[in-house]
Amino acid sequence: MCGIIGCTGGFDTAAVLLQGLSKLEYRGYDSAGIAVLCVDGIEVVKCRGRLSNLSELVSGKDFGDCPVGIGHTRWATHGEPNDINSHPHISRDGRFCVVHNGIIENYMEIRDGLMSQGYEFVSETDSEVIAHLLEFNFRGDVIQCLRETVSQLEGSYALGVLCREKPDMLYSARKDSPLVLGLTEKGGIIASDIPAILSHTRDIYIAEDGEIAAVGRDEIVFYDQLGNIMDKDAVHVDWEVDSAEKGGFEHFMLKEIHEEPSAVRATLGNDAFDHMEITKPDRIQIIACGTAYHAGVVGKYIIEETAGIPVEVEVASEYRYRNQIVGKNHLTIVISQSGETIDTLFAMRKAKKLGSRIIALVNVVGSSIAREADDVFYTRAGPEIAVASTKAYSTQLAAMYMLADKLSDGTIGSKTLADIPGMIERIISKREDIQRFASELFGGSSIFFIGRGLDFALSMEGSLKLKEISYIHSEAYAGGELKHGTIALIEEGTPVICSMTQPHLFSKMAGNVKEIQARGAKVLVITTEDLAEEAAKVADMVVTIPEIDPIYAPVTAVVPMQLFAYYCAVLRGCDVDKPRNLAKSVTVE
Ligand code: F6R
Repeated sequence: MCGIIGCTGGFDTAAVLLQGLSKLEYRGYDSAGIAVLCVDGIEVVKCRGRLSNLSELVSGKDFGDCPVGIGHTRWATHGEPNDINSHPHISRDGRFCVVHNGIIENYMEIRDGLMSQGYEFVSETDSEVIAHLLEFNFRGDVIQCLRETVSQLEGSYALGVLCREKPDMLYSARKDSPLVLGLTEKGGIIASDIPAILSHTRDIYIAEDGEIAAVGRDEIVFYDQLGNIMDKDAVHVDWEVDSAEKGGFEHFMLKEIHEEPSAVRATLGNDAFDHMEITKPDRIQIIACGTAYHAGVVGKYIIEETAGIPVEVEVASEYRYRNQIVGKNHLTIVISQSGETIDTLFAMRKAKKLGSRIIALVNVVGSSIAREADDVFYTRAGPEIAVASTKAYSTQLAAMYMLADKLSDGTIGSKTLADIPGMIERIISKREDIQRFASELFGGSSIFFIGRGLDFALSMEGSLKLKEISYIHSEAYAGGELKHGTIALIEEGTPVICSMTQPHLFSKMAGNVKEIQARGAKVLVITTEDLAEEAAKVADMVVTIPEIDPIYAPVTAVVPMQLFAYYCAVLRGCDVDKPRNLAKSVTVE
């Protein structure tokens, strides 16, 4: 999704903006731009396409002494990706310049109103209305003008604003779209995401809904919704700057897979559940999207198995628009890497309003979901830059096991959990086998994933990983469900990845494998070392993971699937870290 950067003070403005935007590239974008505030006005440079196009345009300019600037990477929602629709957008009189993340839902109404006042619009975006509205509302006081403007906006926004009358200031506002701020020796800086400013400061102010900030060289003044100046504390973020760099790996995704052992160790070191008072609920609902949803499906199996509590897993975007029955003793678990996914955030708010207690499993410290939940467990995966979630998923699973342990009064125990990082290391050390299998299967137009029980939950994630980065069509099915329709798609040579890590379901799965083999499927089985010999009897290829208590198998067995998806994507020449049409943090509905 879109990214914002802004700075004021003694920085090399254009360079800092471009560097900040490069740190936001991972979020996904299709155009980029910057604006700098100079003595003779605001200068905007923007274009469609990659940041390298923008850098080329900027390198031909001499901005001279321009202490303030804003920058943006756009992921198109309203209007196609082109130069004009790119941000920043400037007001008719050139006084205000704006970058915006989010969606202004009433922009048509505002646009019609402004057009009747003689304003002309150059772009198709919803965001342009903000620049003109600022001009329309300006009576000399920028804060007052910003307050009035945001009060007229419906929808979500994080804003970076320049005003020609204030040549050394930068302004920001937010609602339902993330925004962070920092103060360094050189000046103030804002961004939509922590990695963009991590090289400047680790002490980060997290903007709350309704707050407006005036960012200067030496101070940031925060205003609440009523316009009162407010005190705000910075949060210290101890992510290593390096953890947002590739560190010698060809792609962030591969690096992040290699970080899974240390990330899971860090998760296991979090004792936050020990400090949470949790009465055993009558029912649990887990709400999340995408990969986090798949972690929730694993969570359902393990909580029901160990704690005997009924669990429903809900896709957040569906949860929001259904009649929900939430009882008094219901617990809601929200899972989100970014902590900013708008569907998950809004679904969580709904569950809260219905009276449920919320426990959030979140990676990004200080994110909206983390702040609004009743309790938060940080998964401590460190920054995840690749769009495809890998270490976020394994740490979400680790957190799920810890929560299941708490809910089941210690049934799970920590012994096997502590062994998991070492097992993942062993799987990664055999990555060349997986690369070889990928080289045999990456040409397939469709790859199926099947499994039963926890293996089915895991297959859903394996299939998502493959399709999102390699663009190979893929579906996950419960092993026993295939013959109720989908088996019609199996033909000579169709690759099928079969997870067979659950001994009590092994013979049932072996039966399913035979059914598809009889129809020509090429079968790759993922199983544990102790079951490998049996698996070899039915499989064309076998990938083994270390022997493990079956309940924990998903957290290790997912690693070969991630590596398989990675190598298929590389072999197909795909942009692994920034797959087409996808964004890292989905902050629009
Ligand atoms: C897939 C992926 C997405 C996210 C989903 C939720 O690899 O990354 O499916 O899992 O968009 O994001 P978070 O966890 O940030 O709420």
